[in-house]
Amino acid sequence: MSINVLFVCLGNICRSPTAHGVFQQRVIDHQLTDFIRVDSAGTSGWHIGNAPDPRSSRAAANRGFDLSAQRARQVTASDFEKFHYVLAMDSANLSELELIKPTGYQGVLDLFLRFGQQSHVDQSIDEKNLEVPDPYYGEGDGFETVLNLVERASDGLLQYMIQQHALGR
Ligand code: 4NP
Repeated sequence: MSINVLFVCLGNICRSPTAHGVFQQRVIDHQLTDFIRVDSAGTSGWHIGNAPDPRSSRAAANRGFDLSAQRARQVTASDFEKFHYVLAMDSANLSELELIKPTGYQGVLDLFLRFGQQSHVDQSIDEKNLEVPDPYYGEGDGFETVLNLVERASDGLLQYMIQQHALGR
């Protein structure tokens, strides 16, 4: 049985597809594709069926990450039955997810960037610094910021999962 990870943002065309593509590549690089499955979704249904924003795809491709196979979908309550980790890009996404999370969910629902820190359980960290800023309406460098944050948190998440689930031993 695999461990399933779902990245969630608002539109599922910028931030969560980037996290999906970057973390998927990390999983491939560590030969963990039999153990870890990756997906992404949006809290809104605004872009259902759409490919990632070309600005996200381009910025990701420049760093060797391929987002081209992804299509946007909306998160549902049933995702909590499939995914052991549901990781939000910002606090608004997290609040939306808390609303649809079934009672008794046993998995991890948290901000993705908590895994970019030294310790994912360090609650003293300012929550504001744990958000991936929405790049959709901003200038081009917002997409580079997304990639910087996502690459770092992906490394942290993978190390956490390898330890927590004794993967690769
Ligand atoms: P995302 O970015 O949540 O990172 O996919 C957005 C994409 C689209 C919109 C907002 C944010 N929108 O308003 O359509």
